[in-house]
Amino acid sequence: MSSRLEAEHLYKVFGRRPQDAVKRLEQGTDRDELREDGTTAAVIDASFRVEPGEIFVVMGLSGSGKSTLLRMLNGLLEPTSGHVSFEGENLTALGDRELRAVRANKISMVFQHFALFPHRSVRENAAYGLAVQGVPRAERERRAGEALALCGLAGWEDSWPDELSGGMQQRVGLARALATDADLLLMDESFSALDPLIRRDMQDQLLELQKTLKKTIVFITHDLNEAMRLGDRIAVMRDGRIVQTGTAEDILVRPANDYVASFTRDVDRSRVLTAGAVMDPETQGDEADCDCPTATPDSPFTELCALSARVPHAVAVLDEDGELVGVVPSRRLLGFLGDRQGDPESCTGSHDAHTARGGKVTAGA
Ligand SMILES: Nc1ncnc2c1ncn2[C@@H]1O[C@H](COP(=O)(O)OP(=O)(O)OP(=O)(O)O)[C@@H](O)[C@H]1O
Ligand SMILES: [Mg+2]
Repeated sequence: MSSRLEAEHLYKVFGRRPQDAVKRLEQGTDRDELREDGTTAAVIDASFRVEPGEIFVVMGLSGSGKSTLLRMLNGLLEPTSGHVSFEGENLTALGDRELRAVRANKISMVFQHFALFPHRSVRENAAYGLAVQGVPRAERERRAGEALALCGLAGWEDSWPDELSGGMQQRVGLARALATDADLLLMDESFSALDPLIRRDMQDQLLELQKTLKKTIVFITHDLNEAMRLGDRIAVMRDGRIVQTGTAEDILVRPANDYVASFTRDVDRSRVLTAGAVMDPETQGDEADCDCPTATPDSPFTELCALSARVPHAVAVLDEDGELVGVVPSRRLLGFLGDRQGDPESCTGSHDAHTARGGKVTAGA
């Protein structure tokens, strides 16, 4: 099956003679050198694929090129070089009118600031994308109503945006994107303006919606914890380049370079890591012949902590067939907490997680 969204060797250069700048970059000129002549290489040689139903997160510091990259994905910005294809169609080759049609029907964007019209009702705001598509009023209102209900806003259809909290306004923005039935959602720092707790709620809600909607989502954030929570895969950008693409676990456990490693230093590892990532695969003769509870490779770190506290030796990790595939000595758990080493928070509270998700542990006790 072909990838739904594909970016190949994308470049975006702002300034004079951008094509020349691309050539120079290809020949190894560095970005700072170009900047001396007032040329900004915002995105340099970005390639990736996003599969249907995947949440692909692009993470990087301010100015690393995230928004520029996103705007090339829906044709709002023309790449200086490289191309973007969506569902097999080369967007870079399309004319303005065709591009507008793709944007109206197949791709939706959710911004950081909700971009709601203050003098239109919540329903009209949610229906905006459908109005652009030329959908007749009655259908528009019905579909907007459904999308609002999906986003937990049933009953608020006739309110004005300023009657809603920030989190609710952002949900109207999300409902607007969902109402159009676009297969591709581009979300640029969509939750960044929200208070931390509301932000967490929105993340949960997006993950929940995604279980049934299975959109293809490119989500931009500068927050690593958000990236790790949401991303099936994460691309880390630095100074215009994608320096690593991988799962949250890849990024944490196998950082491609020191930059990525330093980025991940503060992340709460206990939320991301699984037994498979932290176990010691060396197993010879280590088998304790006892009835102690064991883990599976996908047991979360918090469960491992809880298990480790309950068994007098290393936690055994068994595969589906009950074969021993690795062990996790308790000192290894501490090692993986990195700078949070010894932070008791990381392992307390784990018992809740343990009982709540207990199915993953083959409890012998
Ligand atoms: N229209 C433009 N003209 C000139 N330079 C631009 C333009 N848009 C972006 N840039 C520059 O390109 C670089 C990348 O900007 P971009 O907005 O893509 O970064 P970002 O990662 O989205 O940052 P932030 O997290 O602050 O939103 C920056 O140096 C920015 O100043
Ligand atoms: Mg940006």
